[in-house]
Amino acid sequence: MPDLIALRDLALSTARRVAPELARRTGGLLDTATKSSSTDLVTDADLWSEQKIAELLHEARPNDSIQCEEGTAVTGTSDVRWVVDPIDGTTNFVYGHPGFSVSIGAELDGEPAVGVILDPLLGDEFAAALGHGATRNGQPIRVSQTTDLSAALLATGFGYQPERRRRQAEGLVEILPRVRDIRRMGGAALDMASVACGRVDAFFEKGLAPWDIAAGKVLIVEAGGRVCDLSGGPTTGDFVAAAPKGLMSELLSLLRSVDAASV
Ligand code: IPD
Repeated sequence: MPDLIALRDLALSTARRVAPELARRTGGLLDTATKSSSTDLVTDADLWSEQKIAELLHEARPNDSIQCEEGTAVTGTSDVRWVVDPIDGTTNFVYGHPGFSVSIGAELDGEPAVGVILDPLLGDEFAAALGHGATRNGQPIRVSQTTDLSAALLATGFGYQPERRRRQAEGLVEILPRVRDIRRMGGAALDMASVACGRVDAFFEKGLAPWDIAAGKVLIVEAGGRVCDLSGGPTTGDFVAAAPKGLMSELLSLLRSVDAASV
């Protein structure tokens, strides 16, 4: 079995190799294109970051599989698969707005085992390995222990398809009056890091991709949180994260009632 600490440290050193360049290029002149819709952006910096990360991981561990957001894929022979978002929160990145990150997760036999999320602008480094806890800049972190949904600060995000956005906005009309407040920061990976360190009390979003989730899931679980889908089962693209006791069951009931009403 691979050493999870070594995998975590490789993810960290790899993310550190691209973060300074992303901090330098954010908000600058970028070659920008769209993907699944006119709001779904990709830049030359996403592609540069992805290529660099994939190269470094492959160099260090040539037998591992790699899957990246912008299409880079390596089929390896080991039981490790890296799942990479070279820039999560690309819209923030394009505008020079804080809230983008580099997200590198590693799965062992298909199960999330390592997660690293780096915030190039704030300089925050979130890292976790299964069974070894979660840290922010080397210091242990814990999810918030809030149990009262009406006093909870929630983070959420919106997909790129107009119809999904409409339903997500309709859901917020019901949710907002029942919670302390909502944050839409624009980067799912950092939203998950925010749950892990208690900077928000919970996060939910429908329709996330594997690279949005891979690293954040390990961080949250290792920080004492729970991650599931709307039915309380293992998360697919539908993602709910909070402390396991109190807040989670109340939040799931609210999200289910809203989902049934808005789909
Ligand atoms: C997106 C961001 C955004 C979330 C979207 C993601 P990208 O990732 O994380 O916050 O709401 O669902 O697709 O496209 O910036 O890498």
